[in-house]
Amino acid sequence: MRHTRRTTRFRSRTLAITIAVVTLAALVPVVLSLRNSDHPANTANAVTAPGQLNAAQEAGVAGPVTELDRTFLVKVRQAGLWEIPAGRLAQANGSSEAVKRAGHHLLDGHSRLDQLVREDAEILGVELPDEATEEQQQWVDQLTGLRGEEFDRFFANVLRSSHGKIFATIGEVRAGTQNDLIRRHAREANQTVLDHMEVLEDTGLVTAETLAEVETAVTPPK
Ligand SMILES: [Fe+2]
Repeated sequence: MRHTRRTTRFRSRTLAITIAVVTLAALVPVVLSLRNSDHPANTANAVTAPGQLNAAQEAGVAGPVTELDRTFLVKVRQAGLWEIPAGRLAQANGSSEAVKRAGHHLLDGHSRLDQLVREDAEILGVELPDEATEEQQQWVDQLTGLRGEEFDRFFANVLRSSHGKIFATIGEVRAGTQNDLIRRHAREANQTVLDHMEVLEDTGLVTAETLAEVETAVTPPK
């Protein structure tokens, strides 16, 4: 009899411990998920998940958009408007495989980024231009008239110069923006621009003068 009572008590305690362990195990993913959603990057991911953009906008969780944020989206749009034609020209007028490869990267990267910038601009109410700047259009005109090695040299340097300058703007935007979508956009643009700088440098044609010009342009006046 005593033995039976002890066995019953033992079983009850075992059951209680098992329930506690199972409950704790079930809570772990919930706690981890709550911790992850506290992280700004994860908040940005949640905001930008497919089908959730409008909901995020309505909920007002994206954050304020500054003048610099707006300028950044305009610059990303304009980059696509001249780099996509430049990428195509590299296939037709370029002579080296490295230049053609760089052209491919420009085409791919900016086709994707252009889609994203138009989506984000619409959500944030930022008006985007339909034309590249006058200077960028002139570069496309120049590239159109060049062939072979001359094309390769101009292509590598003019594009490396413009990428170096926008790379600095992206850093500035990413560091200070309070807007979730702009933060995500800066990350995407940063990866694309970095990739483009690298493939342009891989041509072996980027000169010291080009890099010095970029350095002067991006260094704030003292
Ligand atoms: Fe680019």
